[in-house]
Amino acid sequence: MGQLTDKTALVTGAAKGIGLAVASRFVREGARVVLADRDVDAATTAASALGAHARAQGMDISDEAAVAAGFAELEAAGWAPDVVVANAGVQLFGQDAPAADLELDVWRRTLDVNLTGTFLTVKHAVRSMLPRGGGAIILTGSPTAVNGEGRDFTAYSASKAAIHGLGRTVAAAYADRGIRVNTVQPAYTETPLVAAITDDPQARAAIVGRIPIGRAGTPDDVAGIMVYLASDDGAFATGAVFQVDGGMTSL
Ligand SMILES: NC(=O)c1ccc[n+]([C@@H]2O[C@H](COP(=O)([O-])OP(=O)(O)OC[C@H]3O[C@@H](n4cnc5c(N)ncnc54)[C@H](O)[C@@H]3O)[C@@H](O)[C@H]2O)c1
Repeated sequence: MGQLTDKTALVTGAAKGIGLAVASRFVREGARVVLADRDVDAATTAASALGAHARAQGMDISDEAAVAAGFAELEAAGWAPDVVVANAGVQLFGQDAPAADLELDVWRRTLDVNLTGTFLTVKHAVRSMLPRGGGAIILTGSPTAVNGEGRDFTAYSASKAAIHGLGRTVAAAYADRGIRVNTVQPAYTETPLVAAITDDPQARAAIVGRIPIGRAGTPDDVAGIMVYLASDDGAFATGAVFQVDGGMTSL
């Protein structure tokens, strides 16, 4: 019997990277899992590989109509989620820049997905969960929310700091109605998102050198804490940030 048996979860950005690892682990823990992504073909391929307990949902989280329609479709199909992992995000390497050089369009495209998209996912998750007595929401934060991780991470860092604040506020607002909200803060985790670092030996060595455990994170490193927060074992955990960063932020 898995830790998530009888639960239905929705994971955004689940076509690859951290979201895919979390969705796969949730299926192994007995959950039914909706893999939501704006790349519907990749989400469909990934869901097919996970079997009958997985389902793909095309969803651009920055588009409120698409998010609302996605939740409505899942409710109608009997897949209303008890757990929502608001994980989808972008980092526009090569475009994000020190403030004086940052184009407004790059700022907006980053915040539209990372902040507005996470807010919209949370908004519709809460609306869906309240009539059913609650649920668990998990946000994917970042060490860039609390440290200056890169001179050119202006839009990305601002978006992630805002996510940490969003998580605390939503947790406080709905704690007495059965909804728990927590943020998981991975460090450098090798996924397609950070290929610009992974493919540059000097940049990679510099960032891994700042992780006391001495290696890069893997998507599977992030999945375990998400299982705990999604499960009934996490029943008293809300409003918190959980670091899975090899000691990068704390040591
Ligand atoms: N990889 C890291 O080092 C790292 C570290 C800390 C935090 N994070 C955060 O973890 C989360 C997942 O990152 P990842 O590394 O797995 O990235 P990734 O690029 O490997 O995967 C992100 C997924 O999100 C999807 N996506 C992007 N925009 C979307 C949108 N508007 N609507 C729906 N889906 C969308 C993409 O299609 C992709 O499948 C992000 O929020 C990222 O900021 C990553």
